[in-house]
Amino acid sequence: MTTRTIAPPGTALAVEGGTPVSRSAVPFMSTALTPADIDAATAVLRSGMLRQAARCEELEKRFGAMSGAAHALTCANGTCALQLAYEALFEPGDEVLVPAWSYIATVSMVVARGAVPVFVDALPDTFQIDPADAARKVTPRARAIAATHLYGGPVDIDALQALAGRHGLKVIYDAAQAHLATYKGKGIGAFGDAVTYSFYATKNLATGEGGMVTVNDPALARTIGLLRSHGETDKYLHERVGYNYRMNDITAAIGCSRLDRLAAQTDARRAVARRYDAVLGGIDGLEAPATTPGGEAVYHLYVVKMDLKKFRRTRDEFCAALKAEGVPTAIHYPRALPRQPALARFDKNDTPVSLDLSTRVFALPIHHDLSEDHLRTVGEALKKVAGAYRA
Ligand SMILES: Cc1ncc(COP(=O)(O)O)c(C=O)c1O
Repeated sequence: MTTRTIAPPGTALAVEGGTPVSRSAVPFMSTALTPADIDAATAVLRSGMLRQAARCEELEKRFGAMSGAAHALTCANGTCALQLAYEALFEPGDEVLVPAWSYIATVSMVVARGAVPVFVDALPDTFQIDPADAARKVTPRARAIAATHLYGGPVDIDALQALAGRHGLKVIYDAAQAHLATYKGKGIGAFGDAVTYSFYATKNLATGEGGMVTVNDPALARTIGLLRSHGETDKYLHERVGYNYRMNDITAAIGCSRLDRLAAQTDARRAVARRYDAVLGGIDGLEAPATTPGGEAVYHLYVVKMDLKKFRRTRDEFCAALKAEGVPTAIHYPRALPRQPALARFDKNDTPVSLDLSTRVFALPIHHDLSEDHLRTVGEALKKVAGAYRA
């Protein structure tokens, strides 16, 4: 139970010694397991069947079907999922169009493959990869597009598929943050050559570590299955060089149990997003995230963009003030990928939107466990801080 204090408009900010909107912090995420999740994992422990087995198969069948994909393959984590898809779909030396605005794995695994990432800028309202910028950056050496459905909102799939069709490019979608997102009424697993997922501890479907690749081509499913497990086609018969990127049944059992609740939890995230949209609609200088037309986002993150000219403080100062009022925030991401030391050699200084976003976005708490009280606290804190810091 939060202890909310009535802080009338104009009262001092908590960060300056005033009374906070709430003395207890709104939880930024909800990661607790239920007794059913724990029972599911315990049943696997009791069985002694700890390897990739029936629970992994169940997770593949159910998650694949919910995502609109024909084939699904569990794996160790979302980074391995990207590696498996990339190794199956392009070669060292190929150019791959990648988002400048994403988590690093989308791009670093292109580099790990020995391919050359070509940074594509983000759209300023949806934060998703800009298909027009991608079109400008296609060269004869381009072989693939690796696009992230960022924050849970789908990219402009039609535009990217059309671009890929014109140039014969493979398309890999990184859906680590976008479980159950849809585009034009279909699950995002229906599109592209491969879609990759992460089930990291904080993701919408969280198994601790874990990942998945979905595809629609059976031959590609076979290749990825081989890469996942040392290219083994029969006991100790190895058709190609591969890895051990398998999931285990303890992890998969937690995934299956949590999958029972994922659709309802996704609806709850969407309802929170609509509440935040309404609050932000009334605050000049704070912009709600837009969704690609035709897409339905799942709000892994709810990311707000500040118009810095409208405030007397920086984004980080604004977030520090929100925290003092009882509202934690997070920055996804403090640096655009071309400015990461690990990737700077691929930076051509041609992704201005992504660089700009890194100075002015912040994420609000969003998950299925937020109460009315929490939502009111977030709304009041946003209004209070925005009012106090207005330029
Ligand atoms: C967009 C994106 N891609 C890939 C990954 C990597 O997933 P994992 O942490 O499971 O390796 C993440 C996880 O944070 C992510 O957010």
